[in-house]
Amino acid sequence: MNAPTDTHSVTLDPQQWTFAAGEDESLFQAARRAGIRLPTICRNGTCRTCFSRMESGSVRYLVEWPGLSAQEKQEGFILPCVAVATSPIVMVNPHAEKTADAAG
Ligand code: FES
Repeated sequence: MNAPTDTHSVTLDPQQWTFAAGEDESLFQAARRAGIRLPTICRNGTCRTCFSRMESGSVRYLVEWPGLSAQEKQEGFILPCVAVATSPIVMVNPHAEKTADAAG
C-alpha cells in the first residue's frame, strides 16, 4: 500500500473553482482529475502554454529546468503542467475550462 501524500487546496482565479492537488501530481493532472482543463500543449515545461500566475502558495517542479526565467519565478509565474503544489495555492488562469463531464 502506498503511503498517503499531502494534498493542498488550489483555487483558480477568476473562476473561483477549487480542487485538491496531491504532492505526487502536477497541478495540471490534479485539475484534470477535478474536471478542469488548463490550456496545455507540451506538458513537459517547455512550451509555456500553461503559463499562469500564482497569487499565493508554493510549488516544486517535476523537471529540473522549467521554462521560466528567474524573474518570472520571483514574480510568481508557474507552469502548472510540471508544477506540484507544496502548500495551498491561489493561481490565475482565465483560460481554464470545465470539461463536459465535470460536475458543478
Ligand atoms: S504545457 Fe507546455 S509548458 Fe506547460
